[in-house]
Amino acid sequence: MTSGFLPYGRHVVDQDDIDAVVGVLKGEWLTTGPTVEAFETALVETLGAREAVACSNGSTALHLACAALGLGPGDTVIVPAVTFLATANAARYCGAEVVFADVDPDTALMTAETLDEALHRARRQGMRPRTVSTVHLCGQVGDLAAQSRLARAEGLTIIEDGCHALGTVQHVDGGDAPVGACRFGDLTTLSFHPVKTIATGEGGAIMANDPDLAGAMRRLRNHGMVRDAAGWTEAGQAFGADGQPNPWYYEMPEPGWNFRLNDIQCALGISQLAKLKPFVERRRQLIRRYDERLSALAPAVRPMRRHGDQDAGWHLSVALIDFAALRRDRGAVMRALRAQGVGTQVHYLPVSRQPYYRRRYGATVLPGADRWYDRCLSLPLFPAMAEDDVDRVVDLLAAELGLKP
Ligand SMILES: Cc1ncc(COP(=O)(O)O)c(C=O)c1O
Repeated sequence: MTSGFLPYGRHVVDQDDIDAVVGVLKGEWLTTGPTVEAFETALVETLGAREAVACSNGSTALHLACAALGLGPGDTVIVPAVTFLATANAARYCGAEVVFADVDPDTALMTAETLDEALHRARRQGMRPRTVSTVHLCGQVGDLAAQSRLARAEGLTIIEDGCHALGTVQHVDGGDAPVGACRFGDLTTLSFHPVKTIATGEGGAIMANDPDLAGAMRRLRNHGMVRDAAGWTEAGQAFGADGQPNPWYYEMPEPGWNFRLNDIQCALGISQLAKLKPFVERRRQLIRRYDERLSALAPAVRPMRRHGDQDAGWHLSVALIDFAALRRDRGAVMRALRAQGVGTQVHYLPVSRQPYYRRRYGATVLPGADRWYDRCLSLPLFPAMAEDDVDRVVDLLAAELGLKP
């Protein structure tokens, strides 16, 4: 059993990870050097898309994705209401509007039906949908093929927010499609925050199959700078009298940001990515144990519903608890569990209910999102946990809810 406090998520860093970082610290490069490219190559080899663009975190990955797809004022992005703030905010950073789609109440995943409803709602409001940002919440992929058919038929681009789902493999047409291969989306975003499947401290990446999109994101993550003379347009200032490119020169066709990931973080990323398989396998074992133990508490408590045709990487273990029927207050249960060494979290208050979005778009009626939000509680899940830890969490939860485990 793990001694001490169990947070809802935590990184696992071993001596080989530390050695990899120390190796970079002793070398020439601390910022963007060869280890960034090596990490991008490792992501491509592991996940199967043609391109990987490393960046400073999953939020900037989403921002870069929206910018590279050319989103701007007058455009609309469909975003499922149950997600982290960043999925919606990325559209707003580019000046695009957000229309929130409802989700399945038992998985919190957007579906082709709720996407269709959101598209109709957007059009009724005179908005112009251009992109769908679909979210692989908790590590599960929804009915992505159906969502993709619908989006493509309407000429929309697709961002897969895979920040929860590194390590998830979908079974598609008799083959395997890892999240990050961009089998359905134009771009897939990843996060390497310490609660996620692998950690680089802060960190993120965008996977792509279109080299032009990848090139745009590489430029935009570095202030919008073009250093390659082949891409310059201002010959008068770019080249010397001898026709040679000026050695100091770079051009900025449009402004970008400093969203770079550095060599120190990428050394950790390479070392962690090499352990993706065992990390994910351990998460799956723990989820199986949770399923077994939580199912015994039905109907008041159930594990979140599994979506088919995939081996999920499982970022989160969510119990759906009928707090109303049990007449228990979720906050009180969370505080009591914390006092006994168990950290829990709520993923998420529907983003449409955040004051900023309520002010901007008014209240949106999304019954599936509300039903999920009312019942969800994320329980500790990270690879260093033992089966005994799962048992301890479920026993304490059952006791707090007045149920017999
Ligand atoms: C679904 C989702 N998208 C994006 C992000 C942003 O990732 P980061 O924390 O690396 O900025 C998160 C972070 O929790 C997330 O949960």
